[in-house]
Amino acid sequence: MDRKLDELLFALMQNMTIAVSGEKLARDLGVSHSTLVRWVEKLRSAGLQIRGELFSGFRLVRLPDVMLPQLIRPRLRTRTLGRTLYHFYQVDSTNLFASRLLNHGRRVPDGTVILAESQTAGRGRMGRSWHSEPESGLYFSMVLLPRIPPTLVPLFALATAVAMHNALERDTRLDVDIKWPNDLLIDGKKVCGILAEIQAEIDRVNALIIGVGLNVNNSGFPDDIVETATSLRIASGRIQSRLELFLEFLEEFEALYTSFERTGPAAIIEPWIKNSSFAYNRRIKINDGFRTLEGVTRGLNSFGALKVELKDGKVEEVYSGDVLVG
Ligand code: BTN
Repeated sequence: MDRKLDELLFALMQNMTIAVSGEKLARDLGVSHSTLVRWVEKLRSAGLQIRGELFSGFRLVRLPDVMLPQLIRPRLRTRTLGRTLYHFYQVDSTNLFASRLLNHGRRVPDGTVILAESQTAGRGRMGRSWHSEPESGLYFSMVLLPRIPPTLVPLFALATAVAMHNALERDTRLDVDIKWPNDLLIDGKKVCGILAEIQAEIDRVNALIIGVGLNVNNSGFPDDIVETATSLRIASGRIQSRLELFLEFLEEFEALYTSFERTGPAAIIEPWIKNSSFAYNRRIKINDGFRTLEGVTRGLNSFGALKVELKDGKVEEVYSGDVLVG
């Protein structure tokens, strides 16, 4: 269904200045008039402003900021990442959709990306939810099929943070920090969250799903996160292109993935450390799910665990958790 809506929207975008007759659209898309009218209504309810009706012709009122595969594909500069693309106007969660795809037993190519304009049940780390309003953010999941043991999975989440950090700094010139393990912050507030999930056996990863939520053009946030969240628009004072950021990210991530395959964990750990104010000498509290530790950060080990020096001088390696600034 969403693929059909993409085709219709793309046809309307190519004729922005004139109304396209409903008859021609229906013919080009190979559907009946009533189906066309139903699709136009669906696009309208997804927030797109389309003027006109079947007999007078349809016209887009303004160029929509929609992550259409028809706009993305010709500009992809990656080898595998994003070569298979799914695009939704609305979905419960792109991570959930990815896991349904994998569970259906259909072949899901390495590097498949699922994009959504909005999510009704966007998921965050530690069972939290992710605020996913339309047109403001970038919400996507990557399906990766690396031949790695589960112990190396956290590195892929760190790599995602590094790649997004680089894409953001290059495109927006903003100063972006990485908070362990994989939150991106601007001015101390969260701009991007990453949720890595796996389908695995005890010693083998079958598939890795990495979900990314980036606050791009949000002008505000709900009360519960207003103090802790920011967007690129708020931080830069400018509307940013989700499409450019997405393309930049895919390239950065693929390059990092390739250099990890060639040289191992250092390809990810080193740039992570270089770009995070949390890597060294930061006094923190951290809850690893069992207990809260207090100490000073002393870098990462080669699995991406955070090394924390406790009061007694002992260094603990923390594999998962939430960092609170101490
Ligand atoms: C976090 O809690 O920091 C992680 C947030 C991850 C949100 C993204 S949005 C796209 C993908 N689909 C989801 O349901 N969650 C991730």
